[in-house]
Amino acid sequence: MPYRTFSRPTEAVRTVRQARLYHQEQVPAEAVEELLEIARWTGSARNTQPWHFIIVTDREKLRKVSQLRPPINWLADVPLAIALVMDGANPMSEAYDEGRVTERLLIAANMLGLGGGVAFFGDESQVAEGKRILGIPPDRLARSLVAIGRPTTTTDHRPTRATPGRKSLAEIVSQERYGARA
Ligand SMILES: Cc1cc2nc3c(=O)[nH]c(=O)nc-3n(C[C@H](O)[C@H](O)[C@H](O)COP(=O)(O)O)c2cc1C
Repeated sequence: MPYRTFSRPTEAVRTVRQARLYHQEQVPAEAVEELLEIARWTGSARNTQPWHFIIVTDREKLRKVSQLRPPINWLADVPLAIALVMDGANPMSEAYDEGRVTERLLIAANMLGLGGGVAFFGDESQVAEGKRILGIPPDRLARSLVAIGRPTTTTDHRPTRATPGRKSLAEIVSQERYGARA
């Protein structure tokens, strides 16, 4: 399977952007397998591996989830999404574990010449409805899907888009003590 090469680690990670619009082509099965293998090897608190992954390609399901709230309406047209289902036994550490596995999926998609995007179900009632659509037991912790595909753009097309770019290092790094200039 072809994969992208990068000149330096910064490039490999800086090119990992939130993609919402994708070409209408299937994600190759071997790419999905690779992504799941990478997800499986994510580290977790006490190695509990508290996750389950649902591969969603069914158009009707994606459409229904996309209608939960306007910021994720783009989900209706993605080729594939991976819903993350956490055990729900330790919400604090599982939130961390979910973030780790998500970032791995996004980085791996980029390495495979694809892209990805995070979609949150939303508030409590939208989470409950998202779980119902995907048949997720109510006692499990589920709040997001990671869309996967070949992006047409990584520019945020939504009217509600956040300010692009990132804060400078000077704004976010201290030396030895919080607030002391690095
Ligand atoms: C916790 C979390 C929730 C997010 N939820 C959504 C979402 O519901 N809809 C969406 O379009 N993007 C969502 N995003 C993507 C962010 O908007 C994106 O990461 C941010 O704007 C930076 O994008 P960039 O890496 O392309 O610069 C979410 C990201 C995170 C980390």
